[in-house]
Amino acid sequence: MKTVLITGGAIGIGRATAKAFAADGWRVIVTDVLQKEGTDVVQEIKKEGGSAAFYSLDVTSTEAAEKVLDQVNTTYGSLASLVCNAGIAHNVPFEEMTDEKWDHTFDVDLKGMIRVIRPAVAGMKNSGGGTVVCLSSCMGVAYGWAEHVHYSSAKSGVVGLVRGLGVELAKHNIRVNGVAPGYIRTAMALSPIHSLGPEGLEKASEFIPAGRVGEPEDIADVIHFLASDAARYITGQVVSVDGGLLVGRY
Ligand SMILES: NC(=O)c1ccc[n+]([C@@H]2O[C@H](COP(=O)([O-])OP(=O)(O)OC[C@H]3O[C@@H](n4cnc5c(N)ncnc54)[C@H](O)[C@@H]3O)[C@@H](O)[C@H]2O)c1
Repeated sequence: MKTVLITGGAIGIGRATAKAFAADGWRVIVTDVLQKEGTDVVQEIKKEGGSAAFYSLDVTSTEAAEKVLDQVNTTYGSLASLVCNAGIAHNVPFEEMTDEKWDHTFDVDLKGMIRVIRPAVAGMKNSGGGTVVCLSSCMGVAYGWAEHVHYSSAKSGVVGLVRGLGVELAKHNIRVNGVAPGYIRTAMALSPIHSLGPEGLEKASEFIPAGRVGEPEDIADVIHFLASDAARYITGQVVSVDGGLLVGRY
């Protein structure tokens, strides 16, 4: 049985991704800072006949990331896939942007990926290969997002991470790709303080060519595809999944 580990897998896109892999017969390791929600996803998957386990993991801790990966590698063998999904998007006007606020977003959204990829890749190398999928954003690949300069910068950084690692790890049969979601109906996007909020999302559906805001499952299915053998010749790419938002707004 192939094993996938998902960071931030308790709610939103991460949760939908856990369910998509489980439905395809993968063993799913859900990790998150949200214990209750993470355990709930695992119970749901098990109830549906799937295989899953929850590990508490804050991606801002190198020590915790290495410990969890060590436990998972020892218990289940090397990962076939890793999904770096955990993320935050805090609204901070630039005049209020302290070093600490900047660093915190980078710590979760970009460095948080490296902390988990490093020990995961060590295992993948030993077992003949694997895949990594990282979450960027339309705000990282195309748009500027006012009062979210740290978020846009970190998500642009994800594009560089995917390209560089994709090239460096190809000889180990490890593919590294990214997904750049448009506007997706999750707690993050539904926050009226930090993002569009419910009203903003409804308005957005008017200028999204597909005529609707995305659902977490729309992203999860593409993450699952990139991790699968059907995507065996794709590496170093960040795929926009946005209902035509980027190409259709002019
Ligand atoms: N929703 C959107 O419209 C949208 C658009 C573009 C990109 N994204 C990206 O997709 C990913 C998932 O976002 P979402 O919309 O599902 O958001 P969400 O807020 O619903 O879920 C984010 C998850 O990350 C977890 N998380 C936050 N900080 C963490 C930490 N330090 N350690 C471990 N886990 C942590 C949260 O607990 C939560 O489970 C994020 O990387 C986000 O930036 C989302």
